[in-house]
Amino acid sequence: MRIRFVTVTLLAAAAIAAVALSAQVHDHAAMHETGASAEPAGVAGLPPELRTLFKLEMAGLQGAMLELFPAVISGDWEGIARIAVKIRGGFVLAQQLTPAQREELLRALPAGFLERDAEFHQLATGLEHAAHRKQADVVAFYVNKLTEGCVGCHSRYATERFPALAPAGPAPAHAH
Ligand code: HEC
Repeated sequence: MRIRFVTVTLLAAAAIAAVALSAQVHDHAAMHETGASAEPAGVAGLPPELRTLFKLEMAGLQGAMLELFPAVISGDWEGIARIAVKIRGGFVLAQQLTPAQREELLRALPAGFLERDAEFHQLATGLEHAAHRKQADVVAFYVNKLTEGCVGCHSRYATERFPALAPAGPAPAHAH
């Protein structure tokens, strides 16, 4: 499984991290089945320093999405591809995480979160390829999918920060 994380995006980029992650996800799933372990606390359970890095990465992601718009509407294929690579590669985390912090992050984040992160990275790759092929409609498709990726993850894992995205009614059954 490929990982990246918005936060963890960079993390995911390294093959070693990907291997570690996939082992982690697997372990977590196994524990979950036996009920031997509670769901990790997610970003709320991160030490303050890591959580700050995470938020910086999110801010970088948002900046990249904003930068994307003028490139998309003007057919700036190289610009789009460059931004897509940035989105995939991660921002702050990629550069600043120590190996120990990386492990901590992988431990703290639920498997469902990491899956969304991995999916998000795949969308960024799709965007990059569409830009190289100069396919404006496919570029627009991936920009929309990426936006859905932001909203989807926030609705599930960031409702403390974005309460308006919390699902209405009772919390959905635990699933991941
Ligand atoms: C895999 C999950 C995930 C994806 C995908 C994701 N985010 Fe986030 N994002 C989070 C979480 C969790 C938080 C809340 C962080 C916290 O409370 O510490 C957050 C917070 C944020 C914040 C607020 C940061 C702050 O300083 O409080 C911004 C801005 C943001 N995300 C932008 C984006 C954008 C733009 C995208 C898509 C291009 C995106 N995010 C995709 C999980 C995600």
